[in-house]
Amino acid sequence: MPIATVEWKNKRVKLIDQRLLPHKLEFIYCDSAEEVWDAIRRMKIRGAPALGVIAGYGVYLGIRNSKKNFFRDLQKTTKYLATSRPTARNLFWALERMERVALNNKKESPDRLKKILLDEAGLILKEDKKICRKMGKFGSGLIKKNDVILTHCNAGGLATADYGTALGVIFAAHHEGKKIKVYADETRPVLQGARLTAWELMREGIDTTLISDNMAAYLMSKKKIDKVIVGADRIAANGDVANKIGTYSLAISAHYHKVPFYVVAPLSTIDTRIKSGKSIPIEERDPDEVRKIGGVYISPKKVKVFNPAFDVTPARLVTVIVTEKGVLRKPFARSIREAYRT
Ligand code: MRU
Repeated sequence: MPIATVEWKNKRVKLIDQRLLPHKLEFIYCDSAEEVWDAIRRMKIRGAPALGVIAGYGVYLGIRNSKKNFFRDLQKTTKYLATSRPTARNLFWALERMERVALNNKKESPDRLKKILLDEAGLILKEDKKICRKMGKFGSGLIKKNDVILTHCNAGGLATADYGTALGVIFAAHHEGKKIKVYADETRPVLQGARLTAWELMREGIDTTLISDNMAAYLMSKKKIDKVIVGADRIAANGDVANKIGTYSLAISAHYHKVPFYVVAPLSTIDTRIKSGKSIPIEERDPDEVRKIGGVYISPKKVKVFNPAFDVTPARLVTVIVTEKGVLRKPFARSIREAYRT
């Protein structure tokens, strides 16, 4: 059953507080752009496509009480929401889309513009659900009966409007009766794999095994993994992929052990203005995420910490990129250009 990660309900945004999963399924509500910003920054909601969806509603919430200078308020809101987190392309893609729609309708009254923007946010959500299903269908064509799949972080329903990107492929293969097994990396430091992916997979009745991140290469050396499938936060025009920290090490291990490495992401994750992964901004987060587990210090309290939230996997380590337009193959610079044309 799909999870409604983000919803528009009673004139506000309803979302699952993902920090509490898997032990508590609790919903929170955002009534203002400030509350949306806080939800994104503190990772109550996370995952690239989900950030795009909530950003759309965040823009609407930021301008819904605008009285005199609509376009000034709109720009202030989009600039502000853009400071919430830096890496996921979908966040900026949605902000740009909301601005574009407003500009295309600039002759309308402020009240009409507000309605147009609320509808556009709804459309982003609706489209994301459809896109996830399409990627699931394309991706599941790559999965064989009894495949054992390794995934990293959470690229499931919780990271999108529902169904997911990488997990969408896994769900689709499972629903087609392919009897797959999945290893989920715990994904230190925020543990999206242990807390969210394991929960989502088990809810669907998929055979799930949790491992800590440092066990993946060993499993591959024992020929226990047939495929690695991950999502993406931003993909450069040449196919370099920014995703959750640890994805790059997995890709290197997969390449060494000749295990196919699939990335699943909508076109809204691709940043065609960025030539290569070198220019993708990588977020660095609170050192305490590394010093603590479950709120408890596991290290000396003042130890120095390096905490990048993402890394970049070079395109040459990626086997295919599954999008809503189909399965993109190398050279990615060309297949990405073509995907935009069709
Ligand atoms: O820091 P997060 O939890 O927002 O990072 C999420 C990821 O890295 C996901 O793998 C990525 O957004 C793909 S989600 C469909």
